[in-house]
Amino acid sequence: MQNSIKPPSRGQWGSSFGFIMAAGGSAVGLGNIWRFPYITGQNGGGAFVFVYVLCVLLIGLPLLLNEIALGRKSGRNPVGAIKETGGSGFWQTAGVLCVLVCFAVLSYYSVIAGWTIGYIFTELINIPVDFEDFVQTPLYVIPLCMLFILMTISVVLGGISGGIEKAAKFLMPVLFLIIILIAARSVTLPGAGAGIEYYLSPDFTKINGKVILSALGQAFFSLSVGWGLMITFGSYLPKTNNVIQSSGWIAGMDSMVALMGGLMIFPALFALLPGVSPDEGPALVFNVLPRVFDQIEPFGNIIGGMFFLLLLVAALTSSISMLEVPVAYFIDERKWSRKKAAWTIGIAAMFLSIPSSLAAVKGNFFNQLGFNFFGRQIAGFFDLMDFFFGTLAIVIICLMLSLYTGWVKNVKEYASELAMGAVSFDGFPKKAWVFFIKWICPIVITLVLLNMIGVFGEPGEGG
Ligand code: PHE
Repeated sequence: MQNSIKPPSRGQWGSSFGFIMAAGGSAVGLGNIWRFPYITGQNGGGAFVFVYVLCVLLIGLPLLLNEIALGRKSGRNPVGAIKETGGSGFWQTAGVLCVLVCFAVLSYYSVIAGWTIGYIFTELINIPVDFEDFVQTPLYVIPLCMLFILMTISVVLGGISGGIEKAAKFLMPVLFLIIILIAARSVTLPGAGAGIEYYLSPDFTKINGKVILSALGQAFFSLSVGWGLMITFGSYLPKTNNVIQSSGWIAGMDSMVALMGGLMIFPALFALLPGVSPDEGPALVFNVLPRVFDQIEPFGNIIGGMFFLLLLVAALTSSISMLEVPVAYFIDERKWSRKKAAWTIGIAAMFLSIPSSLAAVKGNFFNQLGFNFFGRQIAGFFDLMDFFFGTLAIVIICLMLSLYTGWVKNVKEYASELAMGAVSFDGFPKKAWVFFIKWICPIVITLVLLNMIGVFGEPGEGG
């Protein structure tokens, strides 16, 4: 079973650069620019950033390699990969969870992407928007979200390589440049110092269980690890590819953009909106950035419009990969056509996005919906989805996948898979990776999960 040949119909990446761009395009998205700053704000600033960087290096990167190894070795989608390598039904549920997570997150991710589309226009035409009013107007928000899902479907229908990959190769670097420009403006505003300090000097007393779970969850969200995405993309890799080098690029790019994202927001927040608290949640970026654009003379609004346009592209390169995972599953395992799979799943995501859109409207049912998870209060449909799918399920998937390769299978085979095409991985790095997958990753994730359900006391705080 294990060494069976890939079916010839499966494609392969043309070049390492193509793979890095596709996987990097998936990684860099709203998670870096919208989610990272607000999660940082909710978890105390610098201390969170510190824990986040550790999570990326010590847990995220080994697991990224783990997924790529599983994908390249099996040449399959997340469920197929575990089946193909001889995993039982229990382990296959990790693959099923991957498919579910991608579908569920796509639905609320598109809501934010829809806001982004709205902001392209309001910036360009230079109309001041009140964010609170905007998101509470379903008449704008729902159609914009649907439009975004339609764009996602149309790309997935046509295959990824032609249009979007070419476009992303050009547009992503432009996005990086604009981010640097905005961050430069932000840090030079009078009064920016307090924000820089909040963001970059860690107050270690703020680190608790909740901060660690959030940092770990954010690392997985942002790196696209724990979604089966890297299994799927890894399955299109030739054995000659140096996956160690590619992963370094992906993680490096992703972290740089996230760190720069924070550098755009916090200095500007403290300088321009001293009354607004950094922990205000998903609205953060949308409240702060338009104020920064107002401070860029001349053409601030054009730069603002361009920024949101490029953010839309970054979101699209992520959402297509999110849709691609369930689509690949239905094509491989259920023998659906690509057309049927993309439309069916896309339209289902449209329906599921509606309650997430409505969750922003104060006082309505989806806004009021609450849930108490072992003392952690989760409010609103949107947060519910982000907690259960965008955080908890991903962490569980990562735990299962590390136990699977680390203990159920012969982990050395997977280490050798990684070393294929990457000679420098042999020796110490290989041993270190095995140690991380067998011990560090499962232990840390288990502790975080146990802490979340209150095993170490005080679930509300620790969760
Ligand atoms: N990593 C993406 C982001 O940061 C989200 C994503 C996860 C996209 C998994 C695809 C698959 O926005």
